[in-house]
Parts: sequence; structure tokens; C-alpha cells
Amino acid sequence: MASAAYGSTLAETVSTVSAVSVTAATASVTASGIPTVVQSTCMACHGMQGIAADGGMFPNLAGQWRPYLLRQLDHFKTHTRSDPQSPIMWGMVAPLTAAQIQQVADYFSAQKPASGHVYDPKLVAEGKKLYFGGLPDKHMPACMACHGATLAGLPPYFPRLAGQKRTYVINQLTYFKSGQRVATHKGIMQYVASRLNSTQITALAAYIRSR
Ligand code: HEC
Ligand code: HEC
Repeated sequence: MASAAYGSTLAETVSTVSAVSVTAATASVTASGIPTVVQSTCMACHGMQGIAADGGMFPNLAGQWRPYLLRQLDHFKTHTRSDPQSPIMWGMVAPLTAAQIQQVADYFSAQKPASGHVYDPKLVAEGKKLYFGGLPDKHMPACMACHGATLAGLPPYFPRLAGQKRTYVINQLTYFKSGQRVATHKGIMQYVASRLNSTQITALAAYIRSR
């Protein structure tokens, strides 16, 4: 179950990027109060309210913790986050001013989070068991310890997972496992994901999406 099998390929991604015009304007807003850069750029992949289309590799940003968003944007800017999908985001943040970065983090963190969707009840149940129980025989802590019993995360740096897109979650857990996404915070997610097989990753993604 290679990560490349999920979502768009990098080639498709690159062609999407070139079709998107990245503005280097000031931190202006539209008449409806949405940051101009969200409307001109971010919206194409993450949705106007920070909820991405289903079935793709793009994450929801709505309701995500502001410090986590700022940290990830900084990691894209400095190329610290360098998993196979990240170059697309390097290009998105490069032209943004510091004021625009604050503005998009303010905006997306204030949006209403995505609601859950159950695709496969059996898979959801398997994922739930792992989420709350961990894998004691492999010394893997329960996800709940850091991402919370409601999957809302723990500010500042433990991200919200509830309702996150399945493809995105599968990709990220696969990248942590392979070491392609370097986990900040003492490498904790690399440790966690290295204990999971691809069936368990799929089940966790189904549970996370269901919340
Ligand atoms: C062409 C599509 C595209 C556009 C436009 C785009 N993004 Fe992204 N974004 C992605 C992809 C793909 C990822 C996942 C990257 C990865 O796996 O490393 C991502 C990830 C992110 C993340 C990390 C989310 C997380 O949960 O860790 C943030 C934050 C983000 N984008 C913010 C933005 C902002 C702000 C803009 C507008 C300035 C924007 N993006 C525009 C495709 C896009
Ligand atoms: C000890 C704390 C801890 C535990 C336990 C933990 N996580 Fe995490 N998780 C984190 C931190 C911190 C991050 C942010 C990593 C970064 O910034 O690089 C994260 C990030 C993630 C992400 C990426 C989110 C995004 O928006 O890109 C996913 C998915 C995730 N964790 C799923 C899980 C799952 C599933 C489990 C259980 C199998 C789990 N985590 C267990 C601390 C933890």
C-alpha cells in the first residue's frame, strides 16, 4: 500500500500549482471579510472555509490550532517539512509576507471544523480501538493521549484530527513512518507511525474522518 497510490500524483500537483496564481499582495481582505490570498490561492485546494474536497490529498484547515498552522507554514517556508507532497506548499508560502501568514492562520483557525463522515463502519471500529487503546505490545501510546478524546487536539502543537481527510491522514502517517515527514516535537509521530502497518493506518484514517 504505497502512499503514491493515494490522491493525485506529484505531476498532477505541479500542474495544479502552475494554474494557480500566487499573489504577493498585502494582507488585504475581500468585501466579505475573507483574506484576499485565501480567495486567490488557498481556496483552490483547501476550500474557501478551509474544508477541502473529499477524495483528494488536500487537508482541511478549518478549526486547526493557530500555533500549529503557523508552525507548519514556517516549516514549509524553511523546507523543514519536506515530505513528497510538501514542495507544492513551499511554492505557496514563499511569496507570503509575515502579515499574510498571520492573517491566514487567524482565518483558518477561526473557521468551523469539518463534520464527520462514516464510510465503512467496520474500519471505523478498528480505528477507534487503536486510537483509544494504542498498541501496548509494541509500546505505542494511544493517539488519544495527545490528540484528545474528541480528536480536537491539544493546543498549541498537537493538531486537531477530527474530520480530517482520509487520503491526507494516510499520506501523513505513511510519510512519518518512512521518515519522509520529519516529525517535530521529539520525533514522536515518527515513533508512533513506525509501529503501524498499512491496514492499521487505513483504519485510523477511517476513524479520524468519521469524527
Ligand atoms: C495547489 C494546491 C494547494 C494550494 C493552492 C494551497 N495548498 Fe496548502 N497544502 C496543499 C497540500 C498538497 C498539502 C499537504 C502537504 C504535505 O503533505 O506536506 C497542504 C498542506 C497545508 C498545510 C498543513 C496542514 C496540516 O494539517 O499540517 C497548511 C497549514 C496549508 N497547506 C496552508 C495553505 C495556505 C495558507 C494556502 C494559501 C496561501 C495554501 N495552503 C494553498 C496544497 C495546497
Ligand atoms: C505523544 C504525543 C502524540 C501521540 C501519542 C500521537 N500523536 Fe499524532 N501528532 C503529535 C504531534 C506533536 C504532531 C505534530 C507533528 C509535527 O508538527 O511534525 C502530530 C501529528 C499527527 C498527524 C498529522 C496531522 C496533520 O494535520 O498533518 C496525524 C495524522 C497524527 N498525528 C495521527 C496520530 C495517530 C493516528 C496517533 C495514534 C496512532 C497519534 N497521532 C499519536 C503528537 C502525538
